[in-house]
Amino acid sequence: MTTSTATAVRTGRAAARATGLNKVYGEGETRVVALDNVSVTFPQGEFTAIMGPSGSGKSTLMHCMAGLDTVSSGSSTIGDTELVGLKDKQLTQLRRDQIGFVFQAFNLLPTLTALENITLPMDIAGRKADKQWLDRVVETVGLSGRL
Ligand SMILES: Nc1ncnc2c1ncn2[C@@H]1O[C@H](COP(=O)(O)OP(=O)(O)OP(=O)(O)O)[C@@H](O)[C@H]1O
Ligand SMILES: [Mg+2]
Repeated sequence: MTTSTATAVRTGRAAARATGLNKVYGEGETRVVALDNVSVTFPQGEFTAIMGPSGSGKSTLMHCMAGLDTVSSGSSTIGDTELVGLKDKQLTQLRRDQIGFVFQAFNLLPTLTALENITLPMDIAGRKADKQWLDRVVETVGLSGRL
């Protein structure tokens, strides 16, 4: 993925922003440039879709911008927090507190109930979900039937 295939940087408040992001997998003959100088802003309060052919780097971009994978170079921020250079523990806390991720493969824990899968990050953090807020979130995303 290159900048030409990503949305241009927009002004305004950003939920997440990538600037000059590069991600290279492997080396030598197996070297793959998955992200080639990608700059993109996801504004707050909007839905943004990334489209492109298989292998163009969509998942790589999402993983790098969510702090699930490291970048080769460039900058990636969530709100005002720069992800590049954060220690593992700081990244873990940021992901747990600020990011919701729906994976291409669901990555649900089969030994937990639907509700336990939803509250897992809070359970790990030792926090209790507010019942009304939880009901509202579950209702909003249409998961009530799963509980
Ligand atoms: N862990 C990895 N090791 C080596 N190469 C990788 C790795 N992950 C992805 N790639 C390569 O990086 C490029 C981008 O892959 P990526 O999975 O980001 O594409 P995608 O746009 O999400 O594709 P799809 O639409 O199939 O999900 C591809 O060439 C892929 O083979
Ligand atoms: Mg993908």
